[in-house]
Amino acid sequence: MSAVKLEHLVKTFGDLIAVSELSLDVREGEIYGLLGPNGAGKSTTIKMIMGLLDPDSGLATVFGIDSTDNPVEVKRMVGYVPEEQQLYDSLTPRELFDFVASIRQLPSDKASKRAKEFAKALDFSQHYDKMIVTLSQGNKQKTMLIAALLHAPKLLILDEPFSGLDVRSAKIMKDIVRIHAENGGSVLLSTHVMEVAQGLCDRVGIIDEGLLIAEGTLDELRSRAHKDGATLESLFLKLTEQEEEVEEGVSVIREALAE
Ligand SMILES: Nc1ncnc2c1ncn2[C@@H]1O[C@H](COP(=O)(O)OP(=O)(O)O)[C@@H](O)[C@H]1O
Ligand SMILES: [Mg+2]
Repeated sequence: MSAVKLEHLVKTFGDLIAVSELSLDVREGEIYGLLGPNGAGKSTTIKMIMGLLDPDSGLATVFGIDSTDNPVEVKRMVGYVPEEQQLYDSLTPRELFDFVASIRQLPSDKASKRAKEFAKALDFSQHYDKMIVTLSQGNKQKTMLIAALLHAPKLLILDEPFSGLDVRSAKIMKDIVRIHAENGGSVLLSTHVMEVAQGLCDRVGIIDEGLLIAEGTLDELRSRAHKDGATLESLFLKLTEQEEEVEEGVSVIREALAE
């Protein structure tokens, strides 16, 4: 069974087609990267998977459960870290984790032990009793990640998980994603930073203007673009036909600087 299955998913906002006939699968146990530039439709897709937005048409399911019909059941199976944090500013991380544990009906000693382990791994322990509002973007993100992992979800959905993280924290975040997958968990992450996916994702789907334009392993995409050893970034530009535009832009800048 697929962890996530999207079938002809469509979402419009007025005249804008944010997600267009999107079909894809995230297999159980894999790390799947949804790649695309800003505005491509990644967050909109993820919100439909979480049942936070209703699609105009098409179907999103999580382990066979329809996201629109049964969002509560979907949320039970997923640990979700949104792009924009919706945190309770006046709480401390410790209070937030206790709160999440009680909502999720987790045994509190087990949940707090788990939270402390993650906090230690993420080098976050010293922020445990500070008000969330005072934390940096990266530390708010870690707070969200720990909260999302408390109930040991089968599927992790991370929307732009590496933005705002320093190099060390990004490395730890990657390790957590890998460990989750090694333990049989599935991961769907979105990013507009191509290097993030390289070496982390088992498969990637590239979306542009709401359309899936390519999908596969990095090697498969390379062979499709007839570029051996190409970086994901150059493949992305080629597949979205921005390569020439970018080259033109670069040569304009080069000339301007040479003057
Ligand atoms: N609530 C909304 N109302 C109107 N337009 C929206 C809304 N949410 C997203 N959009 C538009 O839909 C497109 C896709 O957005 P989004 O899914 O956030 O892209 P991404 O996450 O890939 O950057 C963008 O053009 C964005 O401006
Ligand atoms: Mg987004």
